[in-house]
Amino acid sequence: MRDHLGRQIDYMRISITDRCNLRCRYCMPEGVKCVPMEEILTLEECAEIAAWAASLGVSKIKVTGGEPLVRLGCCDFIRMLKDIKGIEKVTITTNGILLERYLEELIAAGVDGINISLDTLDPKLYRALTGGGDLEAVLRVLEKTVKIRGDRQIPVKINAVSLDLKDMAGQLGCRYDGPGWQELLELAVKYPIDVRFIEVMPIGYGRQYRSVDHDKLLAWLMERYPDMKEDRRIHGNGPAVYYQIPGFQGSIGLISALHGKFCSDCNRVRLTSQGYLKSCLCYEDGVDLRKILRGRGSLKEKEARLLEAMTQAIWGKPTAHCFEDPEHMTEHENMVRIGG
Ligand code: GTP
Ligand code: 5AD
Ligand code: SF4
Repeated sequence: MRDHLGRQIDYMRISITDRCNLRCRYCMPEGVKCVPMEEILTLEECAEIAAWAASLGVSKIKVTGGEPLVRLGCCDFIRMLKDIKGIEKVTITTNGILLERYLEELIAAGVDGINISLDTLDPKLYRALTGGGDLEAVLRVLEKTVKIRGDRQIPVKINAVSLDLKDMAGQLGCRYDGPGWQELLELAVKYPIDVRFIEVMPIGYGRQYRSVDHDKLLAWLMERYPDMKEDRRIHGNGPAVYYQIPGFQGSIGLISALHGKFCSDCNRVRLTSQGYLKSCLCYEDGVDLRKILRGRGSLKEKEARLLEAMTQAIWGKPTAHCFEDPEHMTEHENMVRIGG
């Protein structure tokens, strides 16, 4: 369906857990508390909401977390989503640590794309930044996933949050000569995958870190690769702007929430792991669908309430984020509870 500004909302991000097996500094550092399991939607509840969303015109779903693969049944959930009438694409965003274990199951479930979060290729900095992550394990499964051929082949993208890594390394007591863009970019030379850089958004712990300014990153890219051209092919459902560089197998994507505001083209809503349908990343606006699902009333009454609440939340989607003015933000949850 369309919202009050005429934006077609056809993409829903579903966070299936607020748990994570890493502790990225800007997302879920040590000490962040998890929600009690009974407050988290069951996967059946998530699928039910997805089916109602599909009836309202959602056709693409991104499964997120925390780390979605730490939730038991994640692959079965993807299969459930794929079986919903109207759902065309189901993709997942993962930190990659458990991907090797679940890759075959994900493929068998019919996943349409895998995004892997990887902010640096420096093993020591990666370990410090993620609170103990094993870079080798991620690179191993990346290679394995990319080498899959034939009808089992899955598009892979890398997500690198544009942190000032030198600054970060200093804070973490690591030696690092940065900026490290070149190594990350070269993944798109080595493999046919898109490498995307994401401006740090001032959500939760993200507020403590300065983002690399993507106007500057783009200028750096253009100077280094004068033949780089904007790539207008559709690569997914998200807000990235892509560029092609001669000699690269994959494209380079910029997700520039701060220096390239994309809210006028926004096509998405988010379901948090606690069942809150959020209409914008930046604000608390939305509806508590868990309350309706688990509340009183006959099935028919609940379905009607659910549909009405979802319609209202989508219709009333805020016009744009105000990350440039963080005191006007009303979202105070951490990213790990929202799912990015
Ligand atoms: P695909 O390109 O289809 O894979 O989707 P995507 O880019 O939306 O997926 P992913 O989960 O990899 O998200 C990448 C980054 O984009 C994350 O940091 C998200 O928080 C960010 N992002 C996605 N949607 C929005 C949005 O509506 N607003 C803002 N500000 N950031 C978003
Ligand atoms: N700003 C930008 N991206 C973020 N992510 C997590 N927190 C932030 C933030 N504050 C990214 C993760 C993952 C994606 C789902 O969101 O690194 O790639
Ligand atoms: Fe976990 Fe992803 Fe948050 Fe890192 S960014 S702590 S991998 S949910």
